[in-house]
Amino acid sequence: MTTTAPDVRSPAGILRMGNAFCDAKALLTAVELDLFGALHTGPATEEEIRGRLGLHGRGLSDFLHLLTALGLLAKQDGWFRNTAAADQYLVRDQPTYIGGFLLRSNRNLYPAWGRLSDALRTGAKQSGGDFADVTSNPVLLRQFIGMMDALTQQLGPSLIEAFAWPGYRSVLDVGGCRGNLVGQLVQAHPHLAGHVFDLPPMKPFFDEHMARSGQSATVTFHGGDFFECALPPAEVVMLGHVLHDWDTEQRGYLVRKAFDAISPGGALLVYDRMLDDGPNAVENLVISLDMLLVTDGGSEYPAQEIHAHARAAGFRSSTEQPLGDYDTLVVCHKD
Ligand SMILES: C[S@@+](CC[C@H](N)C(=O)[O-])C[C@H]1O[C@@H](n2cnc3c(N)ncnc32)[C@H](O)[C@@H]1O
Repeated sequence: MTTTAPDVRSPAGILRMGNAFCDAKALLTAVELDLFGALHTGPATEEEIRGRLGLHGRGLSDFLHLLTALGLLAKQDGWFRNTAAADQYLVRDQPTYIGGFLLRSNRNLYPAWGRLSDALRTGAKQSGGDFADVTSNPVLLRQFIGMMDALTQQLGPSLIEAFAWPGYRSVLDVGGCRGNLVGQLVQAHPHLAGHVFDLPPMKPFFDEHMARSGQSATVTFHGGDFFECALPPAEVVMLGHVLHDWDTEQRGYLVRKAFDAISPGGALLVYDRMLDDGPNAVENLVISLDMLLVTDGGSEYPAQEIHAHARAAGFRSSTEQPLGDYDTLVVCHKD
């Protein structure tokens, strides 16, 4: 997938880019109001939508027409309906729902981006506390999990394809959240023993998720802090969207820790929105700035950094390949 950069060669183009946050906020608000859920059962008039969502009515016509112009709704004979993509990806409780990411963007990233200049002046994050604050609040934690599930739901099929899983018997997903990714891997390759290592408050969410997917017997949860505890052994260890939360030194530490947990002949898989000069530069630089705004030292990083950490840790070799639309996968092999 390529990112089309806005045309900024004219004043109108520059102003359009300056207002692009309005398009984004219209989408985030529609997800917050669950507009797409309200239209999932069928088309509705503006008045019906007003009633269903409990809205005032002022501005609603413009809001619905903006979403129509943006391609998220369609309008015919005075009736609004979801477009196919909105109906597939933005209706809550659908397995393909990606709104968990957008809900957290709306509540967390959107206000934080409003303080980007403060972050650039001070180097300090502008949102929330650390993971402990998120994990100690079940409401925040559920939102965060929804965001992670939205990402791993998209990435799972690519990761299943990208690696020679039949050659390995166990996989440990470090920072694997409630196991949404390992669950997909074990479903595709039932010979794998699946393990998740994450902070202890994730356990009830893991149990709930595995019970729902019928995988309680095949995927095991290990609770702990990866800066404090040894990792359980496995043939394959994954660090996905984890290293970008930390600074370079901490990333090197976690790669070494993974090395120690991997059995001889095993592999480390690292994926993140790594930085390069390719067509994904805009998308991944935006995520890197997200990390500036919500973590103490995190950022995206070039794949070269992981190759260097892997060499220093003792891995025999490492290779990189694109993963999904925006991620890069680095695979490090241990003798
Ligand atoms: C950004 S999420 C990544 C989730 C998932 N791997 C993915 O690909 O989207 C980072 C994960 O690391 C976990 N985590 C953060 N700090 C941790 C720590 N000190 N020890 C163990 N897990 C931690 C979080 O709870 C969260 O599930």
